[in-house]
Amino acid sequence: MADLEVIQGGAVLIEGERIVDVGPYARIRASAPDAEEVEVDGVLFPGFVDAHTHAVFGKPRLDDHARRARGMDYKAIAAEGGGILSSVQDTRARSEGALVEVTGRRLRHLLAQGTTTVEVKSGYGLETATELRQLAAIGALAKGPPALVATFLGAHEVPLEYRGRRSDYVRLLIEEMLPAVARQGIARFCDVFCEPGVFTPEESRAVLEAARGHGLDLKIHADELDGSGGAELAAALGAVSADHLACASAQGIAALAASETVAVLLPGTMLFLGRADRAPARALIDAGGAVALATDFNPGSSPGVSLPLMATLGVSQLRMAPAEVVNAITVNGAAAILEAKSRGQLAPGFRADVVLAAVRDWRELVYWYGGSLVRQVWVAGAACHPVGGTINFLA
Ligand code: NIG
Ligand code: FE
Repeated sequence: MADLEVIQGGAVLIEGERIVDVGPYARIRASAPDAEEVEVDGVLFPGFVDAHTHAVFGKPRLDDHARRARGMDYKAIAAEGGGILSSVQDTRARSEGALVEVTGRRLRHLLAQGTTTVEVKSGYGLETATELRQLAAIGALAKGPPALVATFLGAHEVPLEYRGRRSDYVRLLIEEMLPAVARQGIARFCDVFCEPGVFTPEESRAVLEAARGHGLDLKIHADELDGSGGAELAAALGAVSADHLACASAQGIAALAASETVAVLLPGTMLFLGRADRAPARALIDAGGAVALATDFNPGSSPGVSLPLMATLGVSQLRMAPAEVVNAITVNGAAAILEAKSRGQLAPGFRADVVLAAVRDWRELVYWYGGSLVRQVWVAGAACHPVGGTINFLA
């Protein structure tokens, strides 16, 4: 993960949507004398890949944030009417067009920070029609920029109307929602919030095995707030990714490190929730595991849009090396959405997703935190001018 090739005075040769060659300027120029040239001042990175977001929502959860300052935790806030279920109520009341409009504007904030591909989950519907509407909204925005990948997260919480009969909700997920999602072909992945008080490892396994039966690949919100064996389950199921992991057990960490599953760590969530737990990045990497970093962009636990900021937190909170965090928001972010062969690298054959940061030394990308160093973004070879009047957070 610490292997990062840096080319001084380099050039990227792009044809259509693809990168054709990368190397020293003189060689690239000589090989393509007729190519149109765009001179840039700074460091070019592969477009960043945000492998974990819940970007389809309406209102921000400002009261949750204020309650946290008064000492309430995530689960107490949910019990008072905040939490995921308040976003569910809001999302159920919005049309597909309204969800497309608000989500599209917010995704441009991510693009402005250099993110060119985003995984986006449903999970604020918790009923068939609204889950499908969220996935349809993701589909409508999928071409980008930024490009999107859809994940079905009907198992994000047990909705109010199923409290006291949770097994009926698990049955609804398996017998109605998953078949409908599969029939419409509108999700690539299925995710489950495997967490004490939400879904048990047994319930999570049942939903995920059903999803696999429908041809979806698997992700798990594993051991975010309290451990319950989510990491072990992800490794046992051969999930594409296990996400969060701040409370994973030693056995879970060992199982993940020995598996093909990518650990997607979300340090912005622990920061925003004011929690002291830290995901075991060092233990995972030192044991040979693959680590990605993502924003978790959502209205409750992480309304943050910047992957460079997550990379800074990876260094200062998770003890990852600067080269490791750059790989974690590029190569490994792509691996966490099964796009490692097409995205996340400046290399021949890859999609021409390129970010220009106004820095001299590449390490400055993860050093100047909280600012905006990204000056230009190309997605599939096309220049985007992400900073503009259409970007805002308005609900
Ligand atoms: O990743 N853990 C569950 N889902 C989100 C929070 C979503 C919300 O609070 O609305 C997370 O932290
Ligand atoms: Fe999440």
